[in-house]
Amino acid sequence: MSSTLAPSWRSAPRDPNALQSGVWPASAARNPQGELVIGGVGVAELVATYGTPLYVMERSDLIARARSFLASVTQACAAHGVSGSAYYASKSFISGHVVSWLIAEGLGFDVATGGELAIALAGGADPSRIEFQGNNKSQAELHRAISAGVGCIVIDAPIEAHRISAIADELGVHQSVMIRVNTGVHADTHEYLATAREDQKFGLSIPEVAALAGEIASMPGLSLVGLHSHIGSQIFALEGFLEAATRMVALYAELFAGKPQGTLNLGGGFGIAYTESDAPLAPEAMVAAIVDHVAQRAAALDIAMPHIAFEPGRAISGPAGVTLYSAGVIKPVSVTAADGSVSVRTYVSVDGGMSDNARPALYGAHYSARIANRVSASDPALVRVVGKHCESGDIVVDADYLPADVAPGDLIAVAATGAYCHSLASNYNVVGRPPVVWVDSGTHGLMIEGESLEDVLGRDRGLPSGESGK
Ligand SMILES: Cc1ncc(COP(=O)(O)O)c(C=O)c1O
Repeated sequence: MSSTLAPSWRSAPRDPNALQSGVWPASAARNPQGELVIGGVGVAELVATYGTPLYVMERSDLIARARSFLASVTQACAAHGVSGSAYYASKSFISGHVVSWLIAEGLGFDVATGGELAIALAGGADPSRIEFQGNNKSQAELHRAISAGVGCIVIDAPIEAHRISAIADELGVHQSVMIRVNTGVHADTHEYLATAREDQKFGLSIPEVAALAGEIASMPGLSLVGLHSHIGSQIFALEGFLEAATRMVALYAELFAGKPQGTLNLGGGFGIAYTESDAPLAPEAMVAAIVDHVAQRAAALDIAMPHIAFEPGRAISGPAGVTLYSAGVIKPVSVTAADGSVSVRTYVSVDGGMSDNARPALYGAHYSARIANRVSASDPALVRVVGKHCESGDIVVDADYLPADVAPGDLIAVAATGAYCHSLASNYNVVGRPPVVWVDSGTHGLMIEGESLEDVLGRDRGLPSGESGK
């Protein structure tokens, strides 16, 4: 029976061992012993090799999503006689392996810092397939990006246009740029607000964009090749994308009339399922609808259809990832409701927490958990999976049902952690960042090493040398 402490959308499953479809990576299944197997590799083998906590990425799941996303963009655009591209949002999760897999699939890379740029370049990305974003790119970062030959820089403020122009002149090169437009549309999961959202740090308002485009036209080292918008993340509803596209096409018509055909980059934000109550539209369906909408608006304004680009992050890397933890302290906590009734919530403490997944603490994000090393015939019990950090907000999974006999030493798997978990990880409480491994077709390998205590202590210059890690 569902607990009164559970949110209304989370009901007790008939089988608390079952892997909700759409939430777990494509290949995730139980072997005859009941152990969770991802990419053909059992979790016991992964944990014996790499320990816990551990981020596991299913390579073929990530690659299949990237391939299918790009195919949907190119097909939808080809139907209107223009090119379509996809730039993977590196902020969701970037590593050398991911860069090489996505190069092979034909995606470009959206980078937001010099660090992400460095990984994309070191991983072999063609600089002309990199676009550089961000609201506060330093002079050094701009210099590095321009001298590397990045395909496009997305300008977030007028001062950046002047900085890029000066660096392009100094290097004697020509730099393509876009302007990030704050369309006033903000989408958040199931909803969108078409009212203005001026009070935020990204982009320029529509009148400011028009003024800056005029200035850029007088900068010989810069070419304005398009406009960019990103309206939010974890979006389930099409309406926000369509409203933003309507505004972008109107602005594009104003600024690109009589000029070579440009590009509208409509950002990322395609939502994924973290729990069984999330039912996002497939990103491919969203893409097709958005591209068709742009074509309709362009036809209505009697302009040539622009090229289209998107920047998916979470929709590619998120569902491919699972985090494995070891359960430690488990304790029942009695909670008294307003009507005086008392219910029990079982707190399952794991050996990681907000240092490897900050999203629940940052955004109140919800996740799904399962016991990974075995199945159990016990009834479902409401649990809260919490970390080992000194914060009561250190929650990994706010509310899910696990078999009631969950015990210290069990492996706990948390689904859909491929995006914005490793990339947002910290060293809080001097806990090292966990390693990341790939799994595929029964094999596995290290993608990013974990951070050892030696790594962390070794950076502290106030400690006597040789003491670190002892
Ligand atoms: C400019 C921009 N593009 C793309 C993305 C990727 O978003 P998502 O991972 O939700 O697809 C983000 C995320 O914050 C972003 O800020």
